[in-house]
Amino acid sequence: MRLLAPAKINLHLRVGSPRADGFHPLVTWMCTVSLFDELYLEESQSVVGWSLTSNHADLACDQSNLVLKAAILLETAAGRKWEKRRPPGGVAALHKRIPIGAGLGGGSSDGARMLLGLNRLWDAGLSAEELSPLAAQLGSDVPFFLFGPSNICRGRGEIVAPIAKPAVRWAILILPSQAIATPGVYKRLDLLNDWSVNKPRSDDENNEPRLREPDWTNWTLLPAQQLLTMLVNDLEPPAFDVAPELAYLRDTAEQVIQRVVRMSGSGSTLFSLFDQLPEAQAAAKEIKENLSVGAQVVELAPDINDDLNKT
Ligand code: C5P
Repeated sequence: MRLLAPAKINLHLRVGSPRADGFHPLVTWMCTVSLFDELYLEESQSVVGWSLTSNHADLACDQSNLVLKAAILLETAAGRKWEKRRPPGGVAALHKRIPIGAGLGGGSSDGARMLLGLNRLWDAGLSAEELSPLAAQLGSDVPFFLFGPSNICRGRGEIVAPIAKPAVRWAILILPSQAIATPGVYKRLDLLNDWSVNKPRSDDENNEPRLREPDWTNWTLLPAQQLLTMLVNDLEPPAFDVAPELAYLRDTAEQVIQRVVRMSGSGSTLFSLFDQLPEAQAAAKEIKENLSVGAQVVELAPDINDDLNKT
């Protein structure tokens, strides 16, 4: 079985002060983009459990990988009605294209695709809604990838509601080589906001007006330049504090392409939006030539033609 696991960008990301469990309440508009990891699954009668190989030297292929965690979760999930019909294990091969630690959700997408793939292979018949609590155990962003391509995510990210695809069709991803670890960015956010446990405030006081939501339907209709001026990512200040060179890259990228540039998730990927493909291609070329950094044009909310979409 061949599966394509898309990357995502957070078009808009507002983050409130930490909850009692340490996670931060957030509201985000997430959208898949046409940058894919490829995941191949082959069942086998002769092995018990799943193993993973990858083309990426830095990727752990042990049980810390979300692909294998997903297999274990689904296996041990309640209601094993499909168990007798399936071979005991198999081999998963992951071809990484989505950079790691880039705010593009690559690992989360791989994990979600594994859940969907095994659900199909095992004929388990679970809906995306039924898989969602399992996905949430893998990570806050994982449920989004069960649904896609365009969703508003709330809670710690795991509460997913569909929204129309944006009218804007193209984005450029600016891909710095450094990875940024998400927990460190949230910790820095807490430091910058002085949300210390010694100063408890009610959730409303803490999080308003950050978590107040715009008219999303209106936003889905906006052309690129207008939409860009509305977008906020509350993780930019802490990420730029952790990695000051990223702030410099954002400022210079905005000058080079004369357009708003935002960060996705907890970084390090930066992006901008375009209505027309040739404009996006020209901007990516300018960025690569002037700033010596990777830049790639992607389609927002692309169709995904893999084996999950065959009947
Ligand atoms: O859920 P996930 O494993 O992706 O989260 C990684 C880390 O990011 C968490 O351990 C936490 O430090 C931080 N996080 C957070 N609030 C969120 C999502 C993630 O503080 N809503």
